[in-house]
Amino acid sequence: MFDTFYMSGSENFEEKINILEKGAKEAVNQASDLARLEKARVKYLGRKGEFNNLVKELPKISEDSKAHIGRRLNSLRNDLEKLINEKLFELKDKLIKEKLQKEGIDITKPAKGFALGHLHPLTKVERRIEDIFQSMGFSIVFGPEIESEYYNFDALNIPKEHPAREMQDTFWIKNPKSEILNPKSHLLLRTHTSPIEVRFMEKNNPPLRIIAPGRVYRREATDASHEIQFHQIEGLMVGKNISLANLKAVFEEFFKNFFDKRQVEMRIRPGYFPFVEPGIEVDIRLNQMSNSKSQMSKWFEVAGAGMTHPKVFEAAGYAPGEWQGFAFGMGLERLAMLCYGINDIRLFYSSDFRFLKQF
Ligand code: DAH
Repeated sequence: MFDTFYMSGSENFEEKINILEKGAKEAVNQASDLARLEKARVKYLGRKGEFNNLVKELPKISEDSKAHIGRRLNSLRNDLEKLINEKLFELKDKLIKEKLQKEGIDITKPAKGFALGHLHPLTKVERRIEDIFQSMGFSIVFGPEIESEYYNFDALNIPKEHPAREMQDTFWIKNPKSEILNPKSHLLLRTHTSPIEVRFMEKNNPPLRIIAPGRVYRREATDASHEIQFHQIEGLMVGKNISLANLKAVFEEFFKNFFDKRQVEMRIRPGYFPFVEPGIEVDIRLNQMSNSKSQMSKWFEVAGAGMTHPKVFEAAGYAPGEWQGFAFGMGLERLAMLCYGINDIRLFYSSDFRFLKQF
């Protein structure tokens, strides 16, 4: 038999669409939880749902109504999907709010804010020192913390059995592969940053200006001014016609900048270090306020320095007599303590927030 129902026009089909629309919207709007909403979605928009059933009947419709009915179905599907999504959002939101309420959390309260950390005082001071030396044309270079006996001592004119080796109590590293006779393969934790001088000169020709910051290690008892690990900043400037006057000028410029507006005095004493000749020690004293009277502090030793020893140039492979240079080694902790008025070196490594928060 001829199917008069559909061929008679699109009105009856449209009527079916209207019924589906009404039913689907009602089901979605009335869904009071996620399970019911999902049930409604499957019933109407699921693969075997009512919407697809209607679509399957589309071929039975007369050609002239097809386009119109097709558009109507498309927009209905879009409408229903949108409605379901909105409902989904609403139900989830409700769930979260109920949960928060049960847990006693008030999300309308202002947030607590979070604490931002900051750099360690030693890092801050190190960066300031680097900035000042960079402004005077020095580059920053680094060397290894596990160093060989050769670079730490021999190349710096500190031979075995020399009493100067005992000045720096050393942590030796057991190295099963080391050959007893080869000091380059004897390992230790570097006792100072001076080995970087030779390492750098081996690979670079003068003129040069470098500073080399880093951690160093000494096997010592700890007290308010000694730690088994601390930091040094090595400096080296090599060129023609370099003299102690250049060293003094660089130090003066450095201290003036480092202590900013504070009045600082510098004094130079002779000192012995095997890798310089002559060797000096540099002391400073600062203007300090006490009982609203300003007076100069006592003298603090802040650096060892001197003119680079010919043996050190020789170890680096430089032609004898051709170059002059000055070198220095400063203690970073000592400078930081003077800068901030800290009286115990151990505070830097104590991880005590009451201390660290002040910087
Ligand atoms: N390396 C020495 C130390 O740790 C410090 C030092 C002294 C470095 C004199 C130098 C220097 O470059 O010229 O005690």
